Amino acid sequence: MDLFTQIDEQERDEIRALRKELEEANRLYYVLNQPTLSDQEFDAKMRRLQDLEGAHPEMADKNSPTQHVGSDLGKTTKFATITHKYPMLSLANSYSQDEIEDWLRKLPIHVEIVCELKFDGLSISLWYENGQLTHAVTRGDGVRGDDVLANIKTIQSIPLTAPSVGFPVEGKPSFLELRGEVLLPWASFERLNKEREEQEEPLFANPRNAASGTLKLQDPAEVARRGLTCYLYYMLGDNLPGDTHYERLETARQWGFPISDAIRVCHSIEEVMNYIHYWDTERKNLPVATDGIVLKVNDIATQQSLGYTAKTPRWAIAYKFPAEKQHTRLRAITYQIGRTGVITPVANLDPVQLSGTIVQRATLHNEDFIRQLGIHEGDEVWVEKGGEIIPKITGVAQQRVQEDQKVQWIFPTTCPECGAQLVRVEGEAAWRCPNESGCPPQIKGKIEHFVSRKAMNIDGLGEETIDLLFEQGLLHSIADIYDLRKEDIARQERLGDKSADNILAGIEASKQVPWARVLFAIGIRMVGETTAKKIARIFPSLEALSQATKEQLVVIEDVGEQIADNIISFFQDESNQQILARLQQAGLQMVSNEQLPILSDKLAGQSIVISGTFAHHSRDEYKAMIEAHSGKNVGSVSKNTTFILAGENMGAEKRKKAEALGIPLVSEEEFLERVKS
Ligand code: IVH
Repeated sequence: MDLFTQIDEQERDEIRALRKELEEANRLYYVLNQPTLSDQEFDAKMRRLQDLEGAHPEMADKNSPTQHVGSDLGKTTKFATITHKYPMLSLANSYSQDEIEDWLRKLPIHVEIVCELKFDGLSISLWYENGQLTHAVTRGDGVRGDDVLANIKTIQSIPLTAPSVGFPVEGKPSFLELRGEVLLPWASFERLNKEREEQEEPLFANPRNAASGTLKLQDPAEVARRGLTCYLYYMLGDNLPGDTHYERLETARQWGFPISDAIRVCHSIEEVMNYIHYWDTERKNLPVATDGIVLKVNDIATQQSLGYTAKTPRWAIAYKFPAEKQHTRLRAITYQIGRTGVITPVANLDPVQLSGTIVQRATLHNEDFIRQLGIHEGDEVWVEKGGEIIPKITGVAQQRVQEDQKVQWIFPTTCPECGAQLVRVEGEAAWRCPNESGCPPQIKGKIEHFVSRKAMNIDGLGEETIDLLFEQGLLHSIADIYDLRKEDIARQERLGDKSADNILAGIEASKQVPWARVLFAIGIRMVGETTAKKIARIFPSLEALSQATKEQLVVIEDVGEQIADNIISFFQDESNQQILARLQQAGLQMVSNEQLPILSDKLAGQSIVISGTFAHHSRDEYKAMIEAHSGKNVGSVSKNTTFILAGENMGAEKRKKAEALGIPLVSEEEFLERVKS
């Protein structure tokens, strides 16, 4: 039986329309950050498409949104290992004009050389089989790599299809491979590290590491959010167009592949050196990291006759730019205290020019880092800015201070800001100040985090204003924000009526910020924006989360033992409890108000009051259940109340009123039975 005849025209059109709509919604959501569909609408449409595709396998399409990005949301599947069609080799390196000349001398005379930028990311091999992007394989060990197709599909510039006409070798399906580099642009890298710093997650040392970590994620939605990019620099396959490397890349560009504009054909060592000198400076203006130049023999036949060594092609060589390095005096080591109390030692340097910027400070990470380098205040130290955006101290250039005059450096034992005894958590490199509610930089840091754009987004309350209000004794915790009065703000220097109105409007608006962001804002250690969203989905209210057990928490994606412990101890802390109670009192959204899916209309038209405490579910969960079954949860008993969901210790007032009005009480068990059956 021909399956194709089973599908009617209408369903085929519906599949096509859904694919188009979901693809566009994905793009708007992940790439432009402008969601057009609610999560529920998106999920419903995705489910409908999955059902239709399931029922009509002949309509299967690897490019369908059910096969990538959205469909992989939250799932953890291991990558498939794939054997490369052609081994993925590396390049021989050179570091000087002499070495380049040596290499050129071994080539046939008058050979054309293509100069390209050497992108500093991860190599990727894209397979187009019969014109479709079917695999995206990492370098792996050069012979076998991981298929990270779902993640690669989040890169908008990579075409999902390629022309297949003209390529098939008789009897074989067409195969085209493009190799290139996957990169995380500087701007995305900086943004990502800033987020990680705020969330006290380890920073990526450079964009390459960040790209590598990103490509290995099991969550394409997060990959899409981070914003990878790609440049392709090598074409492989049968019956390829053109006789030169340059022609092939130009053809690939015409087909819509992302090819760098910086490719040049050179005819002499002078031209090559000019290219190198030009880009050694100009590369600093590029949006992505580069670490050198690649020189390739242009003519494919010459490439083939030159062949390969075991590890590298003889027809190409890399020239690596020297890392930028300077030495300067380490004036002093000072200490910075983060919002969660982590103490970071900082190198204060004599100002020095490096990669176009003046460097005066560099992180010294932690105690172990300083000991390993063996540096002391007063020493002349090396500062480097290689692939890293943050300058690094790499060692001692000269010990300026005489051995016997050296003051033995020791990490402080008390907090330089508040004097509290520092603690070092076992297994962690960092020292921490435990005085969470009394240490000024921690208090101010927590408030700054709370009001920040991705948290409560309170306009007008910047670092300076927070400082000012803190000094005046008006802000001592995040809860104090909601007690600020207009006159308190308006009488501050540099602030007036207008600023006060602006700040108060921001504070008022923050009361509408949804629960997931409130959860991020309250600053539980290691609970970042994404983790907070995942937690809020499972625990849709403050009440539910504050009672969660470790077992319940660790099953949430992204929540390990450490985060679960942090959550539990956060809620056990009395001063946190007080702050949360005040925030709740102030009217913040402590319950998720996202629309929950409707499960049935069993309680349609019914007004239900919840009263007392329950054994099986929290009150929030019962509220969600009532709404999911089309009922209405109301706060007080009236003649319109259908019944009271009555737990233990039901309020005496409510009981009296219910009796007077003849309103039935329904037990927890009976209620569950009703909604289940
Ligand atoms: S050609 C057989 N071209 O550098 C030749 N590689 O150190 C294959 N790379 O693994 C490589 N930019 O990941 C080539 N324009 C470029 C490149 C480039 C960056 C990377 C590539 C390779 C590594 C070798």
